[in-house]
Amino acid sequence: MNIQQIIANKRDKKILSQEEIEYFVNEYVKGNITDYQAAALVMAIYLNGMTEGETTMLTLAMARSGETLDLSTLNKTVVDKHSTGGVGDKITIVLMPIIASLGIPVAKMSGRGLGFTGGTIDKLESIPGYNIEIPINNFIEIVKKTGISVIGQTANLAPADKKLYALRDTIACVDSMPLIASSIMSKKIAAGAEKIVLDVTVGSGAFMKDKESAVEISKLMKKIGTLANKETVCVLTNMDEPVGKAVGNTLEILETIECLKGNIPNDIKEIILGIGSYIIKLAGEGDNLEENKKRILENIYNGKAYDKFIELITSQGGDISYIENPDKFEKAKYILPVVANKSGYIAEINAKDVGETSVDLGAGRVKKEDGIDHAVGIILEKKIADEVKEGEILAYVHANNEEKGEKAVKRLQEIYIIVEQKIEPEKYILDII
Ligand code: URA
Repeated sequence: MNIQQIIANKRDKKILSQEEIEYFVNEYVKGNITDYQAAALVMAIYLNGMTEGETTMLTLAMARSGETLDLSTLNKTVVDKHSTGGVGDKITIVLMPIIASLGIPVAKMSGRGLGFTGGTIDKLESIPGYNIEIPINNFIEIVKKTGISVIGQTANLAPADKKLYALRDTIACVDSMPLIASSIMSKKIAAGAEKIVLDVTVGSGAFMKDKESAVEISKLMKKIGTLANKETVCVLTNMDEPVGKAVGNTLEILETIECLKGNIPNDIKEIILGIGSYIIKLAGEGDNLEENKKRILENIYNGKAYDKFIELITSQGGDISYIENPDKFEKAKYILPVVANKSGYIAEINAKDVGETSVDLGAGRVKKEDGIDHAVGIILEKKIADEVKEGEILAYVHANNEEKGEKAVKRLQEIYIIVEQKIEPEKYILDII
């Protein structure tokens, strides 16, 4: 077996065998296949695709490329949640403390930003002291004690995905169905939860631009889940505009704190109710989805979810004085308004463009070794269907560099599409697969 032949086979649109896929995954993790050889194969997969069978074999090989977690000592059904990625997507950070406050254990490994999308781990790290690198034994102990832990993907969990994920980001190969499905499902299979709820985002700020491709990848991931004996539900959510008002790391943590205090924008509310009600159902804690939604809202408004969030931050070394007094968070130097140049209704706020604008401000990485600026980002004061008057503020840019800030203001003025006719409010839950 040699890698040149495997690359040539995929280049020539052949179906790879199990041996070829396993050889590639195992030898790449060992360092016996170079990044440029892996990049060539990944690009061939991107261009020529994979059959369902190949994608399943790739997923299982990646899941077995490192350690797999055993969460059975928690003695309760653990339901994992993962998003296919988006802009302003702070759903995990808002929802998981709510789920834990209902007595359902949360043992969650999250990722960093990828392309124009943000990452939960980058957001959590904007809380001073929050430690995302906790040894697995301690991670399980924390879940036993407090009911919740959210950490980064350990080096040894699906290491093939860790390497491929970072590589894909640098060679424009993120938005590929077999690569996204195998990336997500390999991590979920290795992370040990018995059941999985996937937030499959659809729209301009998602990797799946239309509902058809979201349904297709959902069916594929469900099939892989069934083969791995993990019941999987996919909730299709709207990512045509960013989720909530905040885009950027600290700004999204500030919005999370507000949500957990009960001040939740409609889109975030609808999405956490849609996804959360299925997590509760799969955990075996309630078959009635409407009742589950009521329990979610109850624990937000009675403060239990906020208290659980404080417990999560405390147990992972975060300084809760920042959560209790959000004014302590470091602010960007320049806070620049984006002003509407005409009156009307907001018809479009392309989420990918907003995500790229935020990355340009420094909130995300261009190269995988880049640092990020936690303070910068965008606050969207107006969302799709809102009415706006000329001269009103559409958004604020938070920048640490004046020139970059002004460029972002100009770009946002173009991103906001204002029309004369009234616009129907968006739906945020599009389907359940
Ligand atoms: N999230 C992942 O974990 N992997 C992808 O490839 C895309 C989104």
